[in-house]
Amino acid sequence: MTKVDPWADIQGKVDYDKLIKDFGTEKIDQKLMQRLEQHAKHKGLGLHHFLRRGIFFSHRDMKWILDEYEKGNKFYLYTGRGPSGDVHLGHLVPWMFTKWLQDVFDVELWFQMTDDEKFLFKADLSLEEANRLAYENALDVLAVGFDPKKTKIFVDTDYAATLYPLAIQIAKRLNFTTTKAVFGFSGETNVGAIFYTSMQSVPCILPSVLAKRNIPCLIPYAIDQDAHFRITRDILPKLGYYKPAAIHCRFLPPLTGPGKMSTTGSSKDSTIFVTDDAKTIRKKVMRWAFSGGKDTVEEHRKHGGNTDVDMAFQWLTYFEPDDEKLAYIKRQYESGELLSGELKQILVDTIVPIIDEHQKRREAARKVLPQVLLKDRRHS
Ligand code: TYM
Repeated sequence: MTKVDPWADIQGKVDYDKLIKDFGTEKIDQKLMQRLEQHAKHKGLGLHHFLRRGIFFSHRDMKWILDEYEKGNKFYLYTGRGPSGDVHLGHLVPWMFTKWLQDVFDVELWFQMTDDEKFLFKADLSLEEANRLAYENALDVLAVGFDPKKTKIFVDTDYAATLYPLAIQIAKRLNFTTTKAVFGFSGETNVGAIFYTSMQSVPCILPSVLAKRNIPCLIPYAIDQDAHFRITRDILPKLGYYKPAAIHCRFLPPLTGPGKMSTTGSSKDSTIFVTDDAKTIRKKVMRWAFSGGKDTVEEHRKHGGNTDVDMAFQWLTYFEPDDEKLAYIKRQYESGELLSGELKQILVDTIVPIIDEHQKRREAARKVLPQVLLKDRRHS
């Protein structure tokens, strides 16, 4: 099976049910969804389509998070980004959902930008460039629409005086045998990379340390990041903190077929970035989106297309929130009425406005960014 860890090039079908078993997480069941829906209703919102469609599919300790919340013990959200290039549409998936959680539960978001991680793991990326990208990507985070009054963003190397003393508390309880077993490190791995999980663990305790009381933490992310938090969850109780809860999504696949869309993977040419213009997006979709249609128009009209493998349709399950509209498109495509090129055009017409809006908000975010940044020293 395709290996799933933070740095793997994930191509091919991912067996998400098997990941639940292998990683020891829990499937999001109807009962949990109903509970989340009740909370959303209180805010005049519906259940997010990522939940309705199983895109967010797994969790750890969500029941505990909701029990505590219902007792009046609010949690905070924590998530992050490793700034190695432009943000792509896949990154938006966990962030859009994180915004929904912030809206529903009215909680803080602590957002970590790991310029250190990307410097350590990418042979050709300088620290200066990773740091610059961190601030560029932070604009994309704000463009998702988080409440600036309840959002804190920090870049690891500019907040290190605060993060480092906590990172070494964690590092002292993490040995090489464990990181090696979890991530497959070898004797050739640089020691910064071996240490890195300690940095990604810090935001799971930082708000508690600053508030001098334990606060529950909920981390939304795509399942590739889970390895870090399996380690974190083992260590934190030994330090007197709660284990962080988590909620996991599937990957937005590459346009070319199943797997994980990524900036550097083998299907990187087909990746759609939030900085792409409409023309580029159309070109990429038309050129790369794997079609579930038949070889000839006649055959397609007769037998219809296969939405299970058609990437334009699969992407619509992420970006078209209207269930009825999606069901209608599915029927039309499967009956052969809708052709493959037409379905691709529907996808283009769906994502271009999302990216247009994102780019506008991204510009507006330049003003807001200084208000949400946490740092020990000035960024020059
Ligand atoms: P990074 O920058 O690789 O990814 C940022 C977030 O996007 C998710 N992701 C995807 N989601 C759906 N479809 C995809 N194709 C896709 N590709 C990436 C990632 O799972 C992640 O949630 N080490 C982290 C940065 C980080 C972090 C965190 C992430 C620091 N603290 C806490 C999550 C939670 C990284 O390099 O993410």
